[in-house]
Amino acid sequence: MTSSFYITTAIDYVNGKPHLGHAYEKIGADVIARWRRVMGDDVFFLTGTDEHGSKVEKTAAAAGMQPKEYTDSLIPAFKDAWAALDVQYDRFIRTTDPDHAAAAVALLARIRDAGYLLEKKYEGWYCDGCEGYKTDKDLIDGRCPDHKSLEPKWLEETNLFFRLSAFEDQLLAHYEAHPDFVLPEFRKNEVLSLIRGGLKDVSVSRSSASVAWGISIPFRPDSVIYVWFEALINYLTGAGYGVDEERFAYRWPAVHVLGKDVTRFHCVLWPAMLLAAGIPLPLQIFAHGWVLQSGEKMSKTSGTGVEPLAMAQRYGADPVRFYLMSQVTWGKDGEFTWERFEATYTAFLANGIGNLLSRSVSMAIKYFGCVPEGPADPSLQALCEEVVAEATQAYDQLQITDAVNSAWRLVRECNEQITVRQPWTMAKDDSQREALASFLYALLESLRISSALLSPVMPGKCAALQDALGCERDRERTGAELLTWGGLQTGAPLNKPMPLFPRLDTLLAE
Ligand code: MSP
Repeated sequence: MTSSFYITTAIDYVNGKPHLGHAYEKIGADVIARWRRVMGDDVFFLTGTDEHGSKVEKTAAAAGMQPKEYTDSLIPAFKDAWAALDVQYDRFIRTTDPDHAAAAVALLARIRDAGYLLEKKYEGWYCDGCEGYKTDKDLIDGRCPDHKSLEPKWLEETNLFFRLSAFEDQLLAHYEAHPDFVLPEFRKNEVLSLIRGGLKDVSVSRSSASVAWGISIPFRPDSVIYVWFEALINYLTGAGYGVDEERFAYRWPAVHVLGKDVTRFHCVLWPAMLLAAGIPLPLQIFAHGWVLQSGEKMSKTSGTGVEPLAMAQRYGADPVRFYLMSQVTWGKDGEFTWERFEATYTAFLANGIGNLLSRSVSMAIKYFGCVPEGPADPSLQALCEEVVAEATQAYDQLQITDAVNSAWRLVRECNEQITVRQPWTMAKDDSQREALASFLYALLESLRISSALLSPVMPGKCAALQDALGCERDRERTGAELLTWGGLQTGAPLNKPMPLFPRLDTLLAE
């Protein structure tokens, strides 16, 4: 039976083009979405942009444009980058979409009706970079540690407040009852200590005089919804909240993927908002780390960043996806350098899986003309079974890098066995013909299984690999049918592949 799987990313501020850090998150969520499709689920993958608030308002003004005109002009930069990187979302939501305004207002009204809004005066700091309220304790030398180039501003406004403080116990009880609610565990522990430290009510409206660019609150003139409060609601909008209750009941709750800098909003405020509105909490929240450059967060505000679109055009989507998913451990921070990227390409892709494919298929064609007959080599079969179990478990726990590493054990072992067993020498000895057939079958079948496990990370190249192995049918297969040893048909035609990952000097000369 297929089941619904709803996955979301954080939605990016539209104050510049996306960089590799934003791409990292979208790719990670895409990998999980693709894995769930491989397992036969009915997936809905939501990503998009966060377009309101003072950060976007100010950037648009600096560009001499109206905010909507400005964000409209930047949307292609996001969509083109995600298309070039093969990020296969089902909806690209913009918080300026009309159904989102309706959902945001509906949720706010529901929370008000439940008695969780009150009017209070806010006096304190605000960081435009985070679009967040800050206490003196949050600032270091008077600046937000995540946006050192920005001066926080002092706000004094009478606003609507959400009674976040009323939810400490319910939040803690939920965390207790659902130990995997937030992953990785060390992030969950940070969130738990934040909740245990006590929660303060949060301002959820802004006066139109200070921020005009937002969703108006019908029951409070001259106010817009505070951008974070509003943006989080996109996850409900994407599932049909307030518009299509049947779809909403089918899709909700979601798995949320987001960065470690926004856990406070997603793991504390958001579940409390849902509790207040009587809506089930998200299934799971995964907080990934940052893509770093020279030890610092890659960031639009501080002007660092690698353009994912240009990179995908130069190297292809899959090498970028592979680098990010294997070298920037999913859940931790990781450095990006061009040297490391190119070294990874050469070692893992060109010399690793690319070379394995070209050697195995060429030898099978040369010695047998097609997929040779088993019985397959028992040691590789046993390793395959182990790796499938390990990678499946890792993907199911959203541990993408672990899943890639397990699949890689198989690729590495196959290459090592070729070096040790030297099939070209076996081919010279007629008495070894059966052993050679078994060995080559095992290599090809191991490749088929590795490509099924790696297809969420490298969809384009793994499809090419399936073509070379003559098992295009794998694209329609799911779950155990795909991942069980023996899927390759003896006698099936093989196609001599173009180099799957050409050497960099060749690739870049094209
Ligand atoms: N608009 C808010 C999110 C609202 S979600 C309801 C926001 N936008 S952002 O553009 O600043 O960041 C969007 C996502 O990209 C966040 O999850 C953030 O952690 C992630 N990243 C931004 N820079 C990053 C890196 N250098 N590395 C990895 N991810 C980072 O926050």
